[in-house]
Amino acid sequence: MSTIVAMQTYLDHAATTPPRPEARDALLAWLEAANASSTHSAGQRARTVVEEAREQVAAGLRCSPHEVVFTSGGTEADNLAVKGIVWAARERRAAVPHVITTAVEHPAVLAPARWLADRGDCTLTVIVPDTEGCVDPSSVLEAVTDDTVLVSVMAANNELGAVNDVAALGDPLRARGVALHTDAVQAMATRDVDVGDWGVDAMALSAHKFGGPQGVGVAVLRRGLPIEPLAHGGGQDRGVRSGTFAAGLVAACGVAVTAAVADRPVLAVRLRELSDRLADGVADLDGVRRDGPRDPAARLASHVHLSIQGVSTEALTLALDGAGVAASPGAACGSGAASASSVAEAVGLTGTPLRLSLGWTTTRDDIDRAVDVLRDTIPRLQAPERGVA
Ligand SMILES: Cc1ncc(COP(=O)(O)O)c(C=O)c1O
Repeated sequence: MSTIVAMQTYLDHAATTPPRPEARDALLAWLEAANASSTHSAGQRARTVVEEAREQVAAGLRCSPHEVVFTSGGTEADNLAVKGIVWAARERRAAVPHVITTAVEHPAVLAPARWLADRGDCTLTVIVPDTEGCVDPSSVLEAVTDDTVLVSVMAANNELGAVNDVAALGDPLRARGVALHTDAVQAMATRDVDVGDWGVDAMALSAHKFGGPQGVGVAVLRRGLPIEPLAHGGGQDRGVRSGTFAAGLVAACGVAVTAAVADRPVLAVRLRELSDRLADGVADLDGVRRDGPRDPAARLASHVHLSIQGVSTEALTLALDGAGVAASPGAACGSGAASASSVAEAVGLTGTPLRLSLGWTTTRDDIDRAVDVLRDTIPRLQAPERGVA
């Protein structure tokens, strides 16, 4: 039993989900691997492990193994795409490159995009989504100019679980010679992720969000996509991502992709039912509203986002934790502190945000226990604000 789910009702799978047993086995089997770039036979065995994992990832994402680059996680994969594509464009163009992204992207996309713009390396347009958190593809396409080199729109939002129609952007952007990047970190566990169908040039994944270990991710980079590396060194992975391959992490990532893709259709149905049970279980509480898309097809099966009136983030987080329910106020904040959510702000939500996110280990008992705790905790915390002793 995973340590993070053993001690509590764990509903923070969007922050990290426990590794699947087969991924854990692969990690341990290849923790002690030779350097995959060494020419001796132990090195070549490690190289075979890496290349097999690359093929597993490619099969799961329906792309070519040559398009799979292993990174340290989603943050690096996003940074590589955003900075790498802009810097490559700067090299070959006179005009300052233009980038389009959205106000609800993860900081792993928004922060490098803003950093590049602040340095004068690009100009930036940030598209605001609708009140449910979805990005209208036509508003993105209307913002394209002759100088646009990159559009980055996430496949699914980490807080609201809002799903975007990335495939609607692929063909029109390709026709205009604009690269399309998508952050599919949150989508991978429960949605069909198809590089070819979506027509993306770059994509970011993070293994610990779909049953692999922390510390490994994938950047899918279309063959021939002009891109500058973030780090220069030994030239591993097409020269885009230098550094010794972490054979154990990479092997576990490959196995986790295969397992996630095989389990996904059943998991998505099971989590949809459980997440609706959770949301329905608190729907009649005063001052509690479910956020995100009303249309289930536009919402991740794994996410329930609530806005709660009359309670503070700190009090709610502490009370839930004390009652053994692990959940997040909005997203898991990098500093560990509770902070205002930029996603909640972008879509105009009021009240205290609470993200309850489900994953492959979630059971019906977890949900029923969480409903009991929420039904007890929320009115109790609201009571002083209403003047009730
Ligand atoms: C949408 C999204 N993108 C990127 C990341 C960053 O991934 P990693 O933790 O692997 O760096 C996260 C993690 O929360 C995420 O939810």
